Amino acid sequence: MCDHSEAGNNIVLIGFMGAGKSTVGHEIERRAGYRLVDLDALIVECCGRSIPEIFACEGEAAFRGRETEALRSLATACRTVVATGGGVVGKAENWALMRRIGPVIYLRCRWETLRGRIGAASGRPLADGGDWERVENLYRSRLPLYEQADFIVDGDGSEPAVVAKAILNLLRKREGECSKR
Ligand code: S3P
Repeated sequence: MCDHSEAGNNIVLIGFMGAGKSTVGHEIERRAGYRLVDLDALIVECCGRSIPEIFACEGEAAFRGRETEALRSLATACRTVVATGGGVVGKAENWALMRRIGPVIYLRCRWETLRGRIGAASGRPLADGGDWERVENLYRSRLPLYEQADFIVDGDGSEPAVVAKAILNLLRKREGECSKR
C-alpha cells in the first residue's frame, strides 16, 4: 500500500517503440530502488493474452482501452517507474493519468536508432510487416505528442545506465529547486 505522503514519487517514461523505456526503467529500478511497472506487461498479465494476440483478436481500440485502464490502476503507485507503450501519448485522458502518476519523461531517439532497435520481427503489431515507411510516418506523427513531456532526455548515444542516471539527476535537481522555494 502506498503511503500517500510519498505519492507522486514516481517516474513515467514515454517514447517510441525501441526508445529503451523498459531497459532504462530497469536501470532506474536497480540503481534507485524504484519498482518497475511495464505497462504492456501489466496488460498482458491482466488479460492473459500477448500484445499481438490482443491486437489480432480484439483490435487496436480495445488495446488502447486496456492501456488506459492499466494507467488508471497506477493512480496510487509510489516509488514506481512506469515504462509505457509507444502509443500511450495518443489520448488526452492518458496524459491526465500519466501526469497524476508523476513527471513524464520523453526518451528521445533518432529514427535511425529506433529502426535498428525495432528490427525485423519485433512482436509489435504496429511495426511488424516490414513497411518501414509507415512506421516512420507513425513516429513522425507522434513527435509533437512526445514533446509535450515534462522533460526530454536523449535515449540514444549513451548506455541505458547513463540515461537512467541522467534522469535521476534531473529529478533530484528539480526536487532541490522545489524545496528551496
Ligand atoms: C505500441 C508500442 C508497444 C505496444 C504496442 C503498441 C505503439 O510498446 O504498446 O505494440 O503503439 O507504439 P513499446 O513501445 O514498448 O514497444
